[in-house]
Amino acid sequence: MCGIVGYIGQEQAAGILLDGLSRLEYRGYDSAGIAVISDGKLTIRRAQGKLSKLREMIHSQSPEGKIGIGHTRWATHGRPSETNAHPHRYGKVTVVHNGIIENFSELREALIKKGHHFSSETDTEIIAHLVDEELGPKTPTLTAFRRALHRLKGSFAVALLHEFEPDTLYVARSGSPLVLGLGEGENFVASDVPALLPYTKRVLFLEDGEVAVLSRKNIEIETLDGKKVQREAKTITWTLAMAEKAGYKHFMLKEIFEQPRALADTLRGHLDLVKSNVHGDGSGEIFKTKADLEKIDKVYIVACGTSWHAALVGKYFLESNLKTLVMVEQASEFRYRDPILDKNTLVIAISQSGETADTLTAIRNAKAKGAKVLSIVNVVDSSIARESDGVLYTYTGPEIGVAATKTFTAQIAALHLVGLLLGRKKGSYKKDEAEKFLHELLEVPGKIDEILKQAESIREIALKYAHSEDCLFIGRGPQFPIALEGALKLKEISYLHAEGYPAGELKHGPIALIDQGSPVVAIALQDDYYEKMMSNIQEVLSRQASVVVLATEGDRKISSLAADVIYLPRMHPFLTPILAAVPMQLIAYYIADHRGHDVDQPRNLAKSVTVE
Ligand code: G6P
Repeated sequence: MCGIVGYIGQEQAAGILLDGLSRLEYRGYDSAGIAVISDGKLTIRRAQGKLSKLREMIHSQSPEGKIGIGHTRWATHGRPSETNAHPHRYGKVTVVHNGIIENFSELREALIKKGHHFSSETDTEIIAHLVDEELGPKTPTLTAFRRALHRLKGSFAVALLHEFEPDTLYVARSGSPLVLGLGEGENFVASDVPALLPYTKRVLFLEDGEVAVLSRKNIEIETLDGKKVQREAKTITWTLAMAEKAGYKHFMLKEIFEQPRALADTLRGHLDLVKSNVHGDGSGEIFKTKADLEKIDKVYIVACGTSWHAALVGKYFLESNLKTLVMVEQASEFRYRDPILDKNTLVIAISQSGETADTLTAIRNAKAKGAKVLSIVNVVDSSIARESDGVLYTYTGPEIGVAATKTFTAQIAALHLVGLLLGRKKGSYKKDEAEKFLHELLEVPGKIDEILKQAESIREIALKYAHSEDCLFIGRGPQFPIALEGALKLKEISYLHAEGYPAGELKHGPIALIDQGSPVVAIALQDDYYEKMMSNIQEVLSRQASVVVLATEGDRKISSLAADVIYLPRMHPFLTPILAAVPMQLIAYYIADHRGHDVDQPRNLAKSVTVE
């Protein structure tokens, strides 16, 4: 997730672009840059680090120009650095981009064979090369732009300047958002509404597969195939604060709703890798040969907090497909033990921030003993990513709510990718089965969307329990970690006492807590654990608990048993934990919000724990 802005008008563009970028910093902040045109000359300014670095640079020497584009970056392909910062220029063409170009390695190789030189590691730079290649004496920029976009696979929002066209700004989108702002003698473009609000409230939302050409007086929209599009402008009534959260009350809720996009990006960003082609972040290269991988006799997954819950879910899939012992450890325990680690051990570290002190020390200890370290990280080039032998990034964009949501489900998806990648390389995962599973994995974002459509009824169920003081979450198999995560979410933001338990352990203690009206959230999907879960539900019901069940759609039996049922789409049992996590997040959110808590910044908690 990155932020794009563009301006064409009567004012100096640099200040307007910087101001817009400052309102999009929530979309990424590892580097930023702008490009402006004046007197036939295009000037680019870029800086690594937060936007303040770019602002300082521009403050001392502001480039002139009344047309420009800007970008704030959250690295995906290519580490955060000045050379990877946008805008990217090739020939007469300069672009900024948000999204992931899936076929970038292929396109890049083809361009290199034709003699192109690349100055960055980004997928974005490809776009500038392709458009420049398509340009010709008889080919106008718009045609070249459209032709180049047709060659891209993946998601993009792009803004483009041609050095010798100071009166035209080109933009396009497919899968990543772009909104156009209409002014008087000036027009704007941005990834999101907050960047536009200080200047105009009249906007046009660009749709997927559309290109727009902005001049000072006019905006023309057409499809990628050149058909004209007529669209009415809308007037935005949001305040700036509302707009930053895209109209959601809290970042956490926004991030819960972003999950279809976050997962789609994480999966799409690694498809080449899973198909065993060498890919950007290099995790395919830890094990150069099948023999290297066969030597691995055990895997430790180490993590903290919510990331540890993702690790617990991943164990089931990895063990089943690698046919290797997989152990999951809390990094804060692992680092102080003396685990058996050697060159035949693979340690998988999971961390949203990539900076959690315990996880970082755990991988340092493991590396010192010769183990190989592969990490799953959200923040590109963070300490854990840098110190690992290989890294697979979750492409969720920055997560602002302290309680992890979109990064959790993306971590589970990333673990599935690791399982597919290593299982295929080792030969322990059959090709046709792996392909079938990958196909179903790619359907997960759409299934999450279906669950999110039930948010209102989930809210109604959650509010029935908003005044409780305790809540028990139960599940079995790969759903047990989701019970843990459901309890953790509720604890973190609503300050209720909550416990997650493997349902089979109820009889060994927690059932003593059950009393009339005690809330129990049970995950009882139609999988191998279904009958056992039904018995556990009967057990708590007979002690007069109030049960909320997460069930498989179409399960009639369950509706006669429990008053509150949340239905999940039917999927492969290794994939349903991702689905079950979503109602858990919503239940916690609605209860916490109802109780009036600061959902995004719960008391005593920090987003990233860099101390022991
Ligand atoms: C903190 C956060 C949690 C997170 C945990 C691990 O406790 O509040 O949401 O799960 O750290 O963080 P990491 O960045 O390593 O995933």
